[in-house]
Amino acid sequence: MSSVPSIPAERLPELLRAMPKAELHMHIEGSLEPELIFAMSQRNGVAIPYASVEELRQAYAFTNLQSFLDIYYAGASVLITQQDFHDMAWAYLQKAKADNVVHAELFFDPQTHTARGVAMQVVIEGLHSACVRAGTELGVDASLILCFLRHLSEEDAFATLEQALPFRDKFIGVGLDSSEVGHPPEKFARVFARCRELGLHLVAHAGEEGPPEYVWTALDLLKVERVDHGVQSSKDPQLMQRLARDRIPLTVCPLSNLKLCVFPSLDQHNIRALLDAGLVVTVNSDDPAYFGGYVNDNFLQTFAATGLTAAQAYTLAANSFEASFADAGQKKRWREQLDAAFARFA
Ligand code: HPA
Ligand code: ZN
Repeated sequence: MSSVPSIPAERLPELLRAMPKAELHMHIEGSLEPELIFAMSQRNGVAIPYASVEELRQAYAFTNLQSFLDIYYAGASVLITQQDFHDMAWAYLQKAKADNVVHAELFFDPQTHTARGVAMQVVIEGLHSACVRAGTELGVDASLILCFLRHLSEEDAFATLEQALPFRDKFIGVGLDSSEVGHPPEKFARVFARCRELGLHLVAHAGEEGPPEYVWTALDLLKVERVDHGVQSSKDPQLMQRLARDRIPLTVCPLSNLKLCVFPSLDQHNIRALLDAGLVVTVNSDDPAYFGGYVNDNFLQTFAATGLTAAQAYTLAANSFEASFADAGQKKRWREQLDAAFARFA
């Protein structure tokens, strides 16, 4: 679209909901709503240290990344069977459909499950069957990205990769998540090099709480194609130039950043500065069940707080397709759908 039609401000929320988009940064275990945690805890006989759905929800008052991760891993402990993994992903994909997400790349954390004795096959086949079902029943294209937990060793990551390779056709790439500070990208340089040889796509969380140096090393040592979060990059002008020059996408998660106290309020989020610097910014939900909203909530609240415009909405949606790991023909079709959605609002 050569120029975005002028759209009255009062129609912006409707436009944000209606526009087709890709979601590229969401942890499927972070979509597990308290109701589902309780249902699975009962059906699997796995005790959790909360008496009710309300009590669990009240525990969602986080001060930083680690305070969230402690509860997030406790919540994931109720997942036991292939059906559980399927149900979790299916619940998310239906919400994605309602938000006009046409493509989703879902992170999953196998070590959280294999460490409890759940087989890799159960995890991957449960999630993958929901992705296939989303394609046929919802018209939502979905794929999986396996994340290594960075608080564990690189040796553990290598063992996890070995366990996952029999299912190589069911995930498209690898990522790096969990506790960032103290676990820099270089800790995983060898396993990422191996994944690169295997033809897997590479992403990593960097610059969420950690310093700009972690973004540099994710790029230069891990050779990632996208940076998850990356918001701390704005502290380093040279890094900003590098990200803009190489069109390295950042998968930004505004409500996550708010709930984990990365920014004190949404109106102080740096998303506008990142866009103004020409970076390929995308908007994502990270862990929607824990951070108060799915991807459209992220768009709506961010736009309301920061005053971003319809032209910036177009850029963010177009960026989400550009930054995805879909093929060029698919990206072109989504871009045409985006143009058609904007034309309807002109
Ligand atoms: N950061 C790091 N690890 C995570 C996150 C996050 O925001 N969500 C789930 N695992
Ligand atoms: Zn994340």
